Amino acid sequence: MSLVAKPILPNFGAEMSGVDLMAPLAAATVREILNAQDRYGVTVWRGTGLDDEGHVAFSRLFGYLEGGSKTNVGPRRLKHAELIDVGNLDIDGNIVSNELTRAQKRGDRLWHTDGSFIAKRSAYSLLMAHEVPTEGGETWFADTRTAYDDLPRPMKDRLEGLVAQHSYWWSRKQAGFPISEEELDAKPVARHPLVHVHKGSGRKALYIASHARDIEGLPRKEGRALLAELIAHATQPRYVFKVRWNPGDLVCWDNLCSMHRGGEFDDERQRRDMRRTTVREGPAPDVPDDPYAEMFKTSEFAFMAAGRK
Ligand code: OGA
Ligand code: MN
Repeated sequence: MSLVAKPILPNFGAEMSGVDLMAPLAAATVREILNAQDRYGVTVWRGTGLDDEGHVAFSRLFGYLEGGSKTNVGPRRLKHAELIDVGNLDIDGNIVSNELTRAQKRGDRLWHTDGSFIAKRSAYSLLMAHEVPTEGGETWFADTRTAYDDLPRPMKDRLEGLVAQHSYWWSRKQAGFPISEEELDAKPVARHPLVHVHKGSGRKALYIASHARDIEGLPRKEGRALLAELIAHATQPRYVFKVRWNPGDLVCWDNLCSMHRGGEFDDERQRRDMRRTTVREGPAPDVPDDPYAEMFKTSEFAFMAAGRK
């Protein structure tokens, strides 16, 4: 059988079948998978059977993996440095009880793209479910290419050349993390164009996220209003779908043409074990580096490194 992509929305998201990700993949099949990824932006693979090793190996087909430089921070639950622990479990496998860690994780429930707070952008994220809540905990996806296409011409003209400043702490503040605007001003930001051409498809896309705090050259109030307007536009029901998870499911999304957010669930009582790899945009660097680890190494993340309870 060969690869089958069943679209979820007409131009966005596809349920994949016909290829066993546990078996060795021919180069032509890998090409087909990457083409489908470029076309649909989000691919959903049910019941893959992949373990951590297989998850990381499959992810490598997409490019350079963040975390691979082994400069990771603090004690970890997961053996592979390339796997980000995005569920709600601590290093002992119990539900996180630290309020700050919980608030930090709740930031993922806001619409975002992974790693936009880092200068070197992340292209793909590959998220696998290992344990899921009995209720809630879906993941939502929004199509930032079609949303861009549908903007009125004057808005497209207005966005041309604008650069947004992204800060990890801005999304965490919005999720309830205790941090002031003044403290935020002292944190590093990453600068990215608001609109870019998505290389894999040649289509233009919005590059927006709840990490985006300000737009350069615009008064703060105006920049934030514009960011809020664009996020509201791109997350209208016609651009959005949600994935309900079962253990073994894998979802691959392209951060450069989509946004996503985690759905609500009872994170104080229900276990959710989700593991993610993240693929850097473009070719591998000459010397392996790990800007995520660099960032999370700083002292303000001590509460995470100190056991993540
Ligand atoms: C992520 C993320 C949301 C979720 O892994 O980057 O935002 O539903 N996840 O776990
Ligand atoms: Mn995310």
